[in-house]
Amino acid sequence: MERTLIILKPDAVQRGLIGELIQRIERRGLRIAGMKMLWVTRELAERHYGEHKGKPFYEPLLKFITAAPVVALVVSGPEAIQVMRAMMGKTDSKQAAAGTIRGDFGLSNRHNLIHGSDSPESATREITLWFADKEIFDYKTPTAEWVDPDAAW
Ligand code: RTP
Ligand code: MG
Repeated sequence: MERTLIILKPDAVQRGLIGELIQRIERRGLRIAGMKMLWVTRELAERHYGEHKGKPFYEPLLKFITAAPVVALVVSGPEAIQVMRAMMGKTDSKQAAAGTIRGDFGLSNRHNLIHGSDSPESATREITLWFADKEIFDYKTPTAEWVDPDAAW
């Protein structure tokens, strides 16, 4: 079992895609372990996207992610990190495959609807940054075994 941090970015919220995107996550069989809406502060944005400091898109990225509320989720499941990355599609939505979230709903490499942690180390760091322990729930769902009988749900 793995946990990953997912953010439905300001463009997803503004475009009324919260339900659509959460539905895709649930239908895949992944489990929502935490969820909240928040308006990201400049400080949180800087900490979250620290690896991109100095890049040309850094300031526009911070402006975008703090422009309107987001929905943050902790998603868990077998290989949840790479499963979510595959569901998201390539960073530049224009190049993302049809069937992926970015490939179905986006046309921009900045306004690309969703964030997902890119490694176990990022996931641990990001989940700690965005969620308190008590905001993350470890619970069972009766369908989990039917989704993946080999996973330690
Ligand atoms: P994310 O971190 O949000 O899940 O996206 P990612 O891994 O697919 O892409 P990453 O390289 O980490 O970039 C972080 C976010 O910065 C914006 N971006 N803009 N050239 C550009 O204008 C550009 N490149 C990246 C996107 O919002 C990207 O998701
Ligand atoms: Mg990234």
